[in-house]
Amino acid sequence: MIQEPFANKVAIYPGSFDPITNGHVDLIKRGMRIFDEIVILIAHNPNKVYLFSIEERMEMIREIFSDTKEVRVDSYSGLLVDYLKISGANIILRGMRALSDFEYEFQMALMNRRQTKKIETVFLMSGFKWFYTSSKLIKEVVSLGGSVKGLVPDSVNQKLMGKFNVNNINNNRG
Ligand code: PNS
Repeated sequence: MIQEPFANKVAIYPGSFDPITNGHVDLIKRGMRIFDEIVILIAHNPNKVYLFSIEERMEMIREIFSDTKEVRVDSYSGLLVDYLKISGANIILRGMRALSDFEYEFQMALMNRRQTKKIETVFLMSGFKWFYTSSKLIKEVVSLGGSVKGLVPDSVNQKLMGKFNVNNINNNRG
């Protein structure tokens, strides 16, 4: 039996975004061809300790998408499915990189679906260039004085270097 189509094509793109990378930005731009609106949701992952505060992460993302009215930024500390319920959205957008993401993403998508059948998780393959880009490795490299130029927006690169108080001698590399 065919179920009713979703009334609006608003996708919630949840994640830690600590910090946002060019892989995320690429996914959002591609998602804009599919969805009417994308809400980048800084959500709490209990398995992570964050480098940037929620406010810092929101500000970095807002700056990047300041001229894109179809993209909004929000934060939430409860269950993701509750945020969808409150906001009236039905779609969760997630990126899928290498095979290593699959198990984790599958678990989350099924657990979310177990909470409510009213949502669907939509996966977009990460862009080829960003297959092995992760916020975790980016932070590690910058903290040790390496360059992540081209892997994150320039404004984010500056913030990262400020956080680690590094005068990045390798910043023109990479
Ligand atoms: O970028 P991340 O850290 O891989 O994103 C994970 C995130 C934030 C999407 C996930 O931890 C999440 O949805 N957190 C909100 C709380 C929640 O709903 N947990 C149950 C997930 S099945």
